[in-house]
Amino acid sequence: MSVLDLARPELRALKPYSSARMEAGSAAVMLNANESPYAPFDGDSWALNRYPDPQPRALLEQLAQTYGVKAEQLFLGRGSDEAIDLLVRAFCRAAQDAVLISPPTFGMYAVAAGVQGAAVLSVPLTAEKDFQPDFEAIRARAHTEPVKLVFVCTPNNPTGGSVPANAIVALAADLAGRALVVVDEAYAEFSGQPSLTTRMAELPNLVVLRTLSKAYGLAGARLGVLIASAEIIALIRRIMAPYPVPTPCLAAALAAFSEQASAARMEHLAQTRSERARVQAALASHPAVRQLWPSDANFIAFRVDDARGSWQRLQQAGVIVRDVSHYLGLSNCLRVSIGTPAENDAFLAALS
Ligand SMILES: Cc1ncc(COP(=O)(O)O)c(C=O)c1O
Repeated sequence: MSVLDLARPELRALKPYSSARMEAGSAAVMLNANESPYAPFDGDSWALNRYPDPQPRALLEQLAQTYGVKAEQLFLGRGSDEAIDLLVRAFCRAAQDAVLISPPTFGMYAVAAGVQGAAVLSVPLTAEKDFQPDFEAIRARAHTEPVKLVFVCTPNNPTGGSVPANAIVALAADLAGRALVVVDEAYAEFSGQPSLTTRMAELPNLVVLRTLSKAYGLAGARLGVLIASAEIIALIRRIMAPYPVPTPCLAAALAAFSEQASAARMEHLAQTRSERARVQAALASHPAVRQLWPSDANFIAFRVDDARGSWQRLQQAGVIVRDVSHYLGLSNCLRVSIGTPAENDAFLAALS
């Protein structure tokens, strides 16, 4: 059995859109895409009058090296949000299939399922179990209900803890031929935990999401990555938007992999980790804080007496954090991102 047997059959039969850039590369005279032959403004160094490469080779190769996989195992989209959306579209039939999530977790899994008309099954995380997924309950539901995608977020947003790799691998092995396990590693660079990409060769139903929005500082460029078997990636590329990677965003991403930018990033990551420990310690002894959870990511979730009131006081002092009280199990909780040392000081001072 191929993992593609889990995909929507009508998509496997769909004839994909064939863009001008896919059909032919470049030449001295380019008259195949109804583009303007004129630059949009003086000094355009990107040739913005031309459509971009749909899946730019240079960035694919750079990311393949970074993640230790092959370029044909990567899909590059407008943030991992787009990869989540395309996975749901590719694998879930409307009104028939479901995704399984463990709330409180990242909100886009349920939104993408809702847009596609797929059901959302929840196996909640609980504070009593340190917000770790209940793998036994997940397995039971995935075996008895039409679940096509199980989302596991590690470190989890908004609670911050990592999920042990062996438990995810065991889940994927158990669900082989039945569902994909989608491991969202958006915050992996902050965690020091090994990526699940190293276990993919044995498990064709294991897929990983990565992003350049967090550790790479490129949230504004909207670049996310799906890492999966070459056959899943080929399917996703058949249904992707024609040109998901704008030329200036590609240039920004390649610049972020220069030797100098990579060295600066290492320093920023080290600083974020040490600031996380400092903010964590300050919150642990803070009179306003009732509870807080250890984080492997670049944010910390904590409980106060009155989240709305604390949020407003912080906002009046010019500091915006996220009120996550509406998430399941997180009443009166706030989530603060780790900023620069000065920003973290401003936050701690305003919370007092
Ligand atoms: C867990 C998680 N996954 C994915 C995303 C989306 O990231 P991107 O900017 O790549 O769309 C976020 C954004 O906050 C996130 O927290």
